[in-house]
Order: sequence, then C-alpha cells, then structure tokens
Amino acid sequence: MIKLLILGPTGSMGKLISSLAITDGEIEVVAACDLTQIGKELGSLITIDVPNKIMIKDVNNLQEVINKTKPEVVVDFTVAKATEKNCMVCAENGIRCVIGTTAMSKDFLDKFEELVGKNKAPAVISPNMATGVNILFKISGVLASYLKEWDIEIIEAHHHRKIDAPSGTALKIGEAISESIGINLDEIAKYGREKGPNKRLVGAKNEIGIHSIRGGDIVGDHTVLYAGPGERIELKHQAHSRECFANGAIKAIKFIVKQKGNRIYSMKDVLNL
Ligand SMILES: NC(=O)c1ccc[n+]([C@@H]2O[C@H](COP(=O)([O-])OP(=O)(O)OC[C@H]3O[C@@H](n4cnc5c(N)ncnc54)[C@H](O)[C@@H]3O)[C@@H](O)[C@H]2O)c1
Repeated sequence: MIKLLILGPTGSMGKLISSLAITDGEIEVVAACDLTQIGKELGSLITIDVPNKIMIKDVNNLQEVINKTKPEVVVDFTVAKATEKNCMVCAENGIRCVIGTTAMSKDFLDKFEELVGKNKAPAVISPNMATGVNILFKISGVLASYLKEWDIEIIEAHHHRKIDAPSGTALKIGEAISESIGINLDEIAKYGREKGPNKRLVGAKNEIGIHSIRGGDIVGDHTVLYAGPGERIELKHQAHSRECFANGAIKAIKFIVKQKGNRIYSMKDVLNL
C-alpha cells in the first residue's frame, strides 16, 4: 500500500482525489492537511465512509503530521504559494511529490529540482494531468512543425474562480509549439490583444497569441488554432469534468513510488507518451 498525504483535500480537485485515493486498493491515505475544515473527518467532506477515520489537520503543522504518519507520497493541488512552501518541506523529508498546482515561480522550480536530486525524492509536476491534454501537447508541436508559415493562436477557457491566467496548460502548449519551431516562447508569445496607442489593433504576424476566457463553471477548454491562407485547423480539448485530472493524479502517485531516477518527471513519463 502506498502511504499518501493529501494537501488541499477540501478544494475541488482535493475532494475528487481524496475520493479516488480512499477507494483505491493500492493506496492508504495516512493524512490530509488544509487551511480550512481542520478537525473535520475527510470522509464526511466527500460523503464516503472511510474505515480508518482521517481528520483534516492544520497545514501549518505539516512537519508534525509527517513525523506521525510517515507518508511516502504527497499529492498537492492547492495554490502556488502554498505548494512552494509545503512541497519543499515534503521533499526535505524525502517524500515523493505529485504536484498539480499551477503558476509556481521559476525560482521555486529551480530550488525544488535541486532538492529532489539531493534528497532522492523524485516528483511529478504537471499543469494538466488529463491523458487527452498530454496527447494534445505532443501533437500541437508536431502540427506546428508542418505549418511554420501559418499563424498560431491558443485560446483557453476556465471557470470564474480560477486565479491564474493564462492557464498552465496553455503555456505548456505554447512551449511545445515553440520548441518544435525552435523559437523561445518568451520571444513570440502575445498575451491577449488590445488596441494599440493610436487605437488600432496591431497585427499578429510572427506571434503566438495566448488568450484567456473566464466564466461560470467551465472545467477547462483549450483550442489551438492554426490559420493559413484560405484554410485553418483547430485542435480542441474539453474537460467534461475534473475526473480526467484526478485520474491522472492517481496514475502519477502509482508511477512515482516506483521511480529510481532522482528527478522531476512529467505526465509524458507517467503516460509513456
Ligand atoms: N494539474 C492538473 O491537472 C490540474 C487540474 C485542475 C486544477 N489544477 C490546479 O490545481 C490547483 C487547485 O485547483 P482547485 O480547482 O482544486 O482549487 P480550489 O480553490 O477548489 O482548491 C484549493 C485548495 O487549496 C487550499 N489552500 C489554499 N491556500 C492554502 C494554503 N496557504 N495552504 C494550504 N492549502 C491551501 C484550499 O483550502 C483548497 O483546499 C490550481 O492551481 C489549479 O490550477 C491542476
């Protein structure tokens, strides 16, 4: 049994991952920590009867929880600032991290990678754990390599609670395309379009436009538009529910316990793409 610690079990993703983990025959949830609902029983939040009662603990006491419950893997879908702090503590304790949180800083990612190597605690980090999206990452780069003269735009839509924009997934699609055409994303990304100083819209040549829409309860849509003279291709992924991300997180948990390389893996490795 994989001893699992869940960070953020009261969030949308956290609840779903908790339900799947608790009912999985290979995983034993040993602890769950959050900022809210402290002292409540995890099963009561997700309306599953959990045989061994897990009480939600205060994330500020993370080290104490780790000492008592000795998790092997932690899964974290929370907010960037929290992940940056808590996953450092976990990796310092040799715990293998599965991180789904988006918008973490480059500074954290560099320090975390160093710690992963030093403490022999491999990790999976992915802004999108859905199988279809990871295939989209791959084919969006392949398509771009055939369509170098065409304009490419990435359009993403998410629920109105989402706190980062553009989505980590849109950025990763942008990276896949820029790698494929051999230009750094920072040099060609254009985040949104607006009227120029003389109230005219500027053109879109030699740019990858990345656009964010926020509304209602949209789980997550990503469209990659390739537009050429007189024709266009659109690649589209739509998540119908958060289940596709949560299933990916469970796969990542089972993958990371078996890894010997002390490095950061992606879903490309987990799904063997
Ligand atoms: N990788 C993927 O496949 C994937 C899929 C969906 C969402 N996400 C990302 O996962 C994250 C969570 O998304 P969500 O929709 O579940 O959000 P949410 O707002 O529903 O949940 C956030 C959780 O984080 C907890 N939290 C907030 N501040 C905290 C702190 N300082 N310390 C500890 N916990 C804290 C909250 O209590 C809550 O449990 C976001 O970054 C989102 O972009 C990733």
